[in-house]
Amino acid sequence: KVVIVDYGSQVTQLIARRVREAGVYSEIHPCTIPLDDLKAMQPSAVILSGGPASVSDEDSPQLDAGILGLGIPVLGICYGMQLIANELGGSLAQSSDREYGRADLSLLADSPLWDGLPKEGVHKVWMSHGDKVLAPPPGFEVIGRTKNVDVAAMADENRRFYAVQFHPEVHHTEDGAQMLRNFLFKVAGLKGDWSMSSFAEAVIGELREKIGDRKVVCGLSGGIDSTVVAVLLSKAIGDNLHCIFVDNGLLRAGEGTEVVGYLDEHFKLQLHYVQAQEEFLSKLRGVDDPEEKRKIIGRTFIEVFEREAKDIKDVSYLAQGTLYPDVIESVSFKGPSAVIKSHHNVGGLPDIMELDLVEPLRELFKDEVRKVAVELGLPDFVIWRHPFPGPGLAIRILGEITDERLEILRQADRIVQDELHASDWYRKVWQGFAVLLPLKTVGVMGDDRTYEHVIALRVVDSVDAMTADWTRLPSEVLARISSRIINEVKGVNRVVYDISSKPPSTIEWE
Ligand code: XMP
Repeated sequence: KVVIVDYGSQVTQLIARRVREAGVYSEIHPCTIPLDDLKAMQPSAVILSGGPASVSDEDSPQLDAGILGLGIPVLGICYGMQLIANELGGSLAQSSDREYGRADLSLLADSPLWDGLPKEGVHKVWMSHGDKVLAPPPGFEVIGRTKNVDVAAMADENRRFYAVQFHPEVHHTEDGAQMLRNFLFKVAGLKGDWSMSSFAEAVIGELREKIGDRKVVCGLSGGIDSTVVAVLLSKAIGDNLHCIFVDNGLLRAGEGTEVVGYLDEHFKLQLHYVQAQEEFLSKLRGVDDPEEKRKIIGRTFIEVFEREAKDIKDVSYLAQGTLYPDVIESVSFKGPSAVIKSHHNVGGLPDIMELDLVEPLRELFKDEVRKVAVELGLPDFVIWRHPFPGPGLAIRILGEITDERLEILRQADRIVQDELHASDWYRKVWQGFAVLLPLKTVGVMGDDRTYEHVIALRVVDSVDAMTADWTRLPSEVLARISSRIINEVKGVNRVVYDISSKPPSTIEWE
């Protein structure tokens, strides 16, 4: 196993991700971890992450010199490099301007870290740093430089200490993944035979140990994240897991209930299925402002959830399907301690619930969650289900939500889902759905004039929902969706296709 010591970089989890992609198990631990605890994990190598601090700052997180005494390979990245240099007697230059972005790295010496990389020419790397190393510590050789940084990479091959000023873990560092693999395989001699199935196994074991015979409550939405959390917990603690599924009346036709039914059948969950349609819909009556809708739904969800959870006696934990991107987006970073302490609730519940959190997917990205789901043997319809927003159809009905308008949208949306499946486009796109617009247009049907609703079709490609582009669906697929909606859904006489990208638009319309 490789231990990544976190000094608070925004991209620490990417290091873990790259190491896992190379087939090596890794764990991230805060830089405050006691040396004895770290030793007890018997790591084969340690990676020191980057971080926002400056080594010379008064309260800056420091390196426990004992790590360098363990006799195992160490790779320092950015701040991690400065810590090594500082500890072993190199000299550092403080700089008030930070350098961000692309730099060209020239390789100065042969090194296992550069194995398989062309020695000539430059390698695109991504920098983000203030301080830099001026002179390496005794025993180190400079193995790479950029225009602004003379010591961009250094190595002490005898002690197997390596350090780089740039970030090999980010996508923009072209050969970064290869450099990390070199560190793991050529320097640390690891094998690369670990996979996501071992992740599931390890997590189930850890959950069992951490939770013991206490009870956990988990909100199930029918989406893949909460589903995977529920399955992991069910395997870890069985009947002590209590799942709550809230039907807010804003679900798609069949949305959620299919997954919940499947889970119930296959994993025999203690499932609390809460019918709260009327509670939500009555509070939304007459409301057309998007933010107001979201707030009402969020608040009502908490009320319902809390009420249900209270009925379950002696609950100690709340489980959530928080993913890594939720963590980076919602935590404003102020240094390692901010992250370590923040039992940050991303979904909206725990502040009120006063329960300890269990977030087994906190270090994963969506595609990794899908891999875990595959390993757990979940069916395709769970794994490939498109994301569906918490506020549900409420934010896809522009204007007021009425039973009639919900029904129109459900029918139109069902056709969109069916046709995406039938044309084999469902798996290729990030999300596809219908939106009901708050206007009517004139049409002609038979000999009669009609004056009816408009449906907008939104289908997008994306990898992480941060950016998205509209999908170039073949015109036959668009034609079929449009004619089916207009013919089959009463009250709709026009369909339009949304051709906006995110940014500047968003994926959802509200
Ligand atoms: P936007 O519209 O911001 O959506 O481009 C990005 C992704 O997030 C989903 N989304 C939500 N998910 N609660 C959720 O759980 C919400 O309030 C919410 N709003 C948007 C959206 O479907 C897309 O995948």
